[in-house]
Amino acid sequence: MLTIALTKGRILKETLPLLAKAGIEPLEDISSSRKLIFPTTQDDVRLLVLRGSDVPTYVTFGSADMGIAGKDTLMESGSDELYEPLDLGIARCRLMTAAVKGSKTPEGRIRVATKYVNVAKRYYAALGRQADIIKLYGAMELAPIMELADEIVDIVDTGNTLKANGLEPREHIADISSRLVVNKASMKMKHEKIQAVIDAIATAV
Ligand code: PRP
Repeated sequence: MLTIALTKGRILKETLPLLAKAGIEPLEDISSSRKLIFPTTQDDVRLLVLRGSDVPTYVTFGSADMGIAGKDTLMESGSDELYEPLDLGIARCRLMTAAVKGSKTPEGRIRVATKYVNVAKRYYAALGRQADIIKLYGAMELAPIMELADEIVDIVDTGNTLKANGLEPREHIADISSRLVVNKASMKMKHEKIQAVIDAIATAV
């Protein structure tokens, strides 16, 4: 059995057509089900539907053989126990810093609100800037407005959310898209099947 962990939400919507092209289709409609495990048109392939940040965890521990997750999530998890053989080119966006439009970045220590704590720590450290990182779980845009933070680190797609809240993008940290990741032990033990799935998805991409 090959288990593939998928990221629910926007990434899932763009993943399912790719998997279908690769010959892997869930036997029931994922969006109208409360189930978490889905058998597919391939008897030996099943899908898990998870929160993005849990995908690297399942794949790292080998509970799932493969996974699909945003590069932002993979950068934040920092796991080097995963192969990343394929950029799926879906759910593209940018990881950026942002601040209140026209505001001046304070000299010295700054406060940064984000759910990407590890990415932010690495980013500011690499720039040699002192930053206190404040962990949030959503609505990062609110933090600079309410003076909880000077800046945020978040993903930007259209930029509409920043604009609607009087913020502007500042520094580009990374281009983001969804990636296929594979557990290293699975890659050895189930090589033939996994390579076939990678090739099929690569063709679909
Ligand atoms: C993301 C991100 C921004 C928004 C950016 O949130 O956190 O809020 O999308 O998109 P835009 O530039 O097109 O406006 P998402 O909707 O994924 O929800 P989340 O806060 O749960 O991550």
